[in-house]
Amino acid sequence: MIKLGSSDKEYIVRIEAVILAAGIATFLVAGVAANQQKTAPSQAQKIFARAKADDFMGDSGCNDCHAKTVEAFHGSGHEAYMKNPNAPLEKQGCEGCHGAGYIHQSEENPEVISFRNMTPKESSAACLRCHESTLSERHWKLSSHSQADLSCVSCHQIHPNSDSNWVTRTGKAPPQNPKAVVHVAKVKPKALLMADEVTLCGQCHASEVAKFRLPSHHPVPEGEMVCSECHSVHPTKSSKGKVAHTKENCVTCHSQFEGPFAFEHDPVAGNGGEGCMECHKPHGSGNPKMLKAFSRGLCAQCHTEKLGSHYPGRTCWSSGCHVATHGSNSSQHFLQP
Ligand code: HEC
Ligand code: HEC
Ligand code: HEC
Ligand code: HEC
Ligand code: HEC
Ligand code: HEC
Ligand code: HEC
Ligand code: HEC
Ligand code: HEC
Repeated sequence: MIKLGSSDKEYIVRIEAVILAAGIATFLVAGVAANQQKTAPSQAQKIFARAKADDFMGDSGCNDCHAKTVEAFHGSGHEAYMKNPNAPLEKQGCEGCHGAGYIHQSEENPEVISFRNMTPKESSAACLRCHESTLSERHWKLSSHSQADLSCVSCHQIHPNSDSNWVTRTGKAPPQNPKAVVHVAKVKPKALLMADEVTLCGQCHASEVAKFRLPSHHPVPEGEMVCSECHSVHPTKSSKGKVAHTKENCVTCHSQFEGPFAFEHDPVAGNGGEGCMECHKPHGSGNPKMLKAFSRGLCAQCHTEKLGSHYPGRTCWSSGCHVATHGSNSSQHFLQP
């Protein structure tokens, strides 16, 4: 074993104190849990609770048996943070994610945190140990992805050389039809995603992604936009969490329609209903300007009394009449801006 300097010893004493405190906290939480039926500690939390300071072997220990994995990790987005010597042992290096090495190697009851062999819930909990500050477990559980049994590693790839494939990560076969992926622009994957974002989403949401092939669409296939500019893929503490189909989201980019206008058009102003989605499709449409309908039928969704005799032309806007459909500062009938 490596010799310890006095500062190291101090450090370990501190860690033991932390572990003790954590132990007491766990005990208290357990007491509360008994009363409130709170969720039990995750598998990862239990493994870390078991670890004493000298159960940690450091990355060089892993190197003895997993040399290729250690070497490839030099390219990982986590490397810099993992190598922080000031971080507590249970958040350092390989062991920060996989648990203490001597517990993994112990004679009786060896345990290692193996993300791809855990249930999605346990796997995500092991990531959230560190990411709770931006992404709380409570919020994550409410997301439709969590409820559909996805885990963090369904989308993120931590080891650049990981040999695990789509099936071991998601429990699903990859799509048979490669054309399902519409993304044509070359975009580099970011945020440690398995693939560039649109390709990734397209693996499971082929039909939504296919809508971006329609003549009028948001410039996603062109590489100018990604899905997460409108969807908060995983709710963070600052985001609302759900699909953003509210006016607020649309007008972050289309601010000219934000208003307020002297004369508001109810559906645009978002007074109830679907707001912008009363008239537009969000992804793409066969009609110009991503409209739900190409002619007066669009307006007749609500203004049924105007359907017959009001004006015989095709549309109510491009014929030069209601040109300011989104609201006007000069015309009560939206005849000019
Ligand atoms: C003495 C050799 C040895 C050392 C040291 C060692 N491991 Fe392992 N590890 C193994 C063996 C053997 C397996 C089982 C391989 C298998 O089942 O495919 C394994 C399995 C694993 C797995 C599970 C693989 C899976 O299928 O998901 C992980 C994760 C892991 N080790 C991480 C580590 C980390 C991190 C360290 C350093 C703290 C480490 N190991 C140190 C030998 C070792
Ligand atoms: C940020 C968390 C994290 C860190 C840090 C980390 N791993 Fe992993 N590791 C994972 C995840 C997640 C998987 C599952 C990979 C997958 O499904 O592709 C994994 C898989 C593995 C496996 C089994 C699968 C394989 O590809 O062989 C081994 C062995 C392993 N890690 C060893 C290590 C070693 C050694 C280190 C330090 C150099 C390390 N890990 C650092 C998260 C981490
Ligand atoms: C030991 C603590 C720890 C664990 C466990 C951990 N992370 Fe991280 N991770 C960090 C830190 C620290 C950062 C950098 C600061 C930040 O973005 O919060 C980071 C960054 C990231 C990033 C952003 C990287 C980038 O390039 O933008 C992703 C994605 C990520 N982690 C996913 C995961 C996933 C998935 C898991 C579980 C397999 C995981 N993390 C487990 C500590 C951890
Ligand atoms: C459905 C796919 C998907 C799943 C599942 C997923 N993520 Fe992400 N994650 C993304 C995408 C897409 C981004 C990029 C967002 C961006 O560019 O701002 C991202 C970004 C991140 C980032 C870096 C940016 C930030 O917000 O700080 C972290 C950290 C992260 N994810 C952690 C996690 C953790 C932890 C889990 C599991 C609890 C998880 N992710 C599950 C798709 C996913
Ligand atoms: C591994 C498969 C998988 C991946 C990858 C994936 N999703 Fe999902 N997503 C699902 C499942 C399953 C649901 C649950 C609802 C359903 O069945 O459609 C869902 C739900 C959603 C919903 C919510 C629908 C609703 O009714 O609330 C949105 C929005 C969404 N995903 C967007 C994305 C985006 C954006 C990405 C890429 C960053 C992505 N998804 C990646 C499987 C996936
Ligand atoms: C311009 C913003 C925007 C972009 C970009 C966007 N979406 Fe959406 N998406 C929406 C809105 C708004 C809805 C809600 C539609 C509704 O309520 O009619 C939605 C709905 C969805 C749904 C749920 C569909 C359903 O029927 O429940 C999924 C899944 C989805 N989007 C996936 C994606 C994927 C994958 C991408 C990237 C390829 C993407 N979205 C890009 C705005 C967007
Ligand atoms: C992240 C920025 C962003 C968000 C959010 C956004 N858009 Fe867009 N939108 C764009 C861009 C970029 C274009 C393409 C503009 C161009 O080609 O001149 C566009 C184009 C459009 C067009 C015109 C399409 C055409 O064929 O000319 C409509 C209509 C539209 N958006 C509606 C919406 C609606 C409704 C929402 C909310 C669901 C929304 N946008 C959210 C960026 C955004
Ligand atoms: C009552 C129906 C209706 C509603 C609600 C509506 N729009 Fe439109 N929008 C239209 C029509 C009609 C056009 C086509 C106008 C034209 O071709 O001159 C259009 C065109 C657009 C364009 C393309 C503008 C251009 O010059 O290319 C954008 C962007 C847009 N709408 C965004 C929005 C946003 C954002 C909202 C919500 C705040 C919204 N729309 C709500 C009917 C609507
Ligand atoms: C989702 C329902 C809905 C749709 C779709 C819709 N409107 Fe409206 N519109 C309203 C409501 C509600 C009012 C305010 C109440 C009223 O005056 O009838 C209104 C008011 C108006 C007014 C001002 C009042 C008036 O009678 O002069 C005009 C003009 C108008 N709409 C034109 C249009 C045009 C053109 C379209 C198609 C591009 C359209 N609307 C689509 C709901 C809708």
